[in-house]
Amino acid sequence: MFLKNSWYVAAWSRELGDTPLARTLLDQPVVMYRAGNGAVVALEDRCCHRHLPLSMGAVVGDDLQCGYHGLKFDASGVCVEVPGQSSVPPGAMVRSYPVVEKFHWVWIWMGDPDKADEALIPDWWWADHPDWASARPGPLYIKCNYRLIADNVMDVSHLNYVHKSSIGSLATHEFPVVTEREDGKIRMTRWIYDRPPPPMYRKAGNFAGNVDRWQIAEHIPPCFSTNEAGCAEIGHGHEDRETGGGMKIFALSAPTPETGRTTHYFFAFVRCFGLDDPELDQMFQVGMVDVFREDVAILEAQQAMMEFKPGANQIDINVDAAPIAARQMLDGMIAAEQAGRGNRGG
Ligand code: FES
Ligand SMILES: [Fe+2]
Repeated sequence: MFLKNSWYVAAWSRELGDTPLARTLLDQPVVMYRAGNGAVVALEDRCCHRHLPLSMGAVVGDDLQCGYHGLKFDASGVCVEVPGQSSVPPGAMVRSYPVVEKFHWVWIWMGDPDKADEALIPDWWWADHPDWASARPGPLYIKCNYRLIADNVMDVSHLNYVHKSSIGSLATHEFPVVTEREDGKIRMTRWIYDRPPPPMYRKAGNFAGNVDRWQIAEHIPPCFSTNEAGCAEIGHGHEDRETGGGMKIFALSAPTPETGRTTHYFFAFVRCFGLDDPELDQMFQVGMVDVFREDVAILEAQQAMMEFKPGANQIDINVDAAPIAARQMLDGMIAAEQAGRGNRGG
């Protein structure tokens, strides 16, 4: 069961051109392409004639032509031409989806089109700002439910085990994690004072000794998370976090369900330091993706075991507070949507 009335990331902008791209999203086959005028179009990937995926056809001007009998569909999904006959049969159309290009991503609305308000896209302005450098790898295809990814991103304790050689540090355990719930968001905050930075941050920020650090994750249902990680000289953490001193990065996370057991994982890293440093570019474009691959191994193994024995007993520990709060918030939104009470989409 997915939340329908929400934006989801469907593709990187760079993935789309005049060749149709097929992608299943929320169990729906979707085809996307860039029309002759440059606008992104997203249609149901199933011809209304004999159900060939339209992605097997070709872009012709602003339209998409089916590869079987040549029916042409415009950007609104209406069939505008049937080769060999002068009229188009009534009801000849496929579904079209609202799309918006923002932050180098294509966002799609899979629910009621009348509720598709661009203002509901998370305000990830760093992803498109000259004072911030961005790494835009992926997407990764992960064989797990998208909620496992949200759990993982909201849980900083796993860094010390899954990522111990890169962004983990066992020196963090004694510092408490605070979970807050407000305005349709879950926030998880941990401040770590006067401790060594993890290996990757030591290198990125050129720190010689101990540092003050912060880990702040914010989650907006159904699947949008930001992980802010920062390091500063001892005694300067709070000040540097406000002023942009020290080292601050955001991991932007938007796992889009393909099905209930597979996910297209879109993510980006943005940073406000070393903007013109190619070594740092490489660290985030390649090194951090390798860090995420460590998560992929965990997530896919988790999913497989959950499918092997569905409903097996599980317990909760303190670090689960934020992921549980995020799941509860999403459950409430899905229940409201199913009951026809609407959600933040209306
Ligand atoms: S199946 Fe698409 S035109 Fe016939
Ligand atoms: Fe991780």
